[in-house]
Amino acid sequence: MVIAFFDSGIGGLTVLKHAIRELPNHDFIYYADTKNAPYGVKTKEHVRKHVFEAVDYIAKHDIQALVIACNTATAVAITDLRHHYPFHIVGMEPAVKPAVIRNRGKNILVLATSLTLKASKLEALIASVDKNNKTVKMEMDALVGFAESWDFNSGNVKKYIQDKLRTLRVAELETIVLGCTHFIYYKSIIQEVVGDEIKIIDGNIGTVANLKNVLSGFGVQHDQNGGHVLFYSSGVRDDVNREIKLRGLMGCQ
Ligand code: DGL
Repeated sequence: MVIAFFDSGIGGLTVLKHAIRELPNHDFIYYADTKNAPYGVKTKEHVRKHVFEAVDYIAKHDIQALVIACNTATAVAITDLRHHYPFHIVGMEPAVKPAVIRNRGKNILVLATSLTLKASKLEALIASVDKNNKTVKMEMDALVGFAESWDFNSGNVKKYIQDKLRTLRVAELETIVLGCTHFIYYKSIIQEVVGDEIKIIDGNIGTVANLKNVLSGFGVQHDQNGGHVLFYSSGVRDDVNREIKLRGLMGCQ
């Protein structure tokens, strides 16, 4: 059996990479909706439509579980998806809860896409865990575009991050939550800009832990020949060149 991962683009690879390490005997499908990325600047109706089209395609494969490795898609579609499909679906949400648990009194900055920040799901999460109102939010939508054009380290991307963070009082921050899987590629630049005092966290470990929990409900299902990944983009199997690039990004063969 196979576990599918879905994102609007390459962000979810950061989650898949962690999953492969934790579940080396499983096979995976990675589906990026590159034709319709970015999601974070679209309306929730549009994103929902794109997500359902993608998951309809994924559902044609014999999958055991689906990970929505995208905070934006989770925020607007996870409840409907779970009603609609028979397989287990693991979503992602900004790691506000772990940030609140480690908080010693300063602020928590959630970086996410505009659509995630607008969604009632995030509001509900913050209201339920952050009783002291320590959470502030900022969109960094442009990072999705930078990542999709494979720009991880240029002067432009550094300037964008610096300019965005300059508008904040960094000394008042304690934790930054990367609430978009694409932003994880920029963790070290963000860390450089804000300094080592501020802890930067993401939801990848928690998401893979949730996936492992779901899989444990299936009993023993290890395939000794596992570890294969098939890559798709918006309804087509990726060609060899893109596959090599994606594998390279995850640092695996
Ligand atoms: N990677 C996605 C997330 O975690 C969204 C990126 C997009 O805007 O398409 O939110």
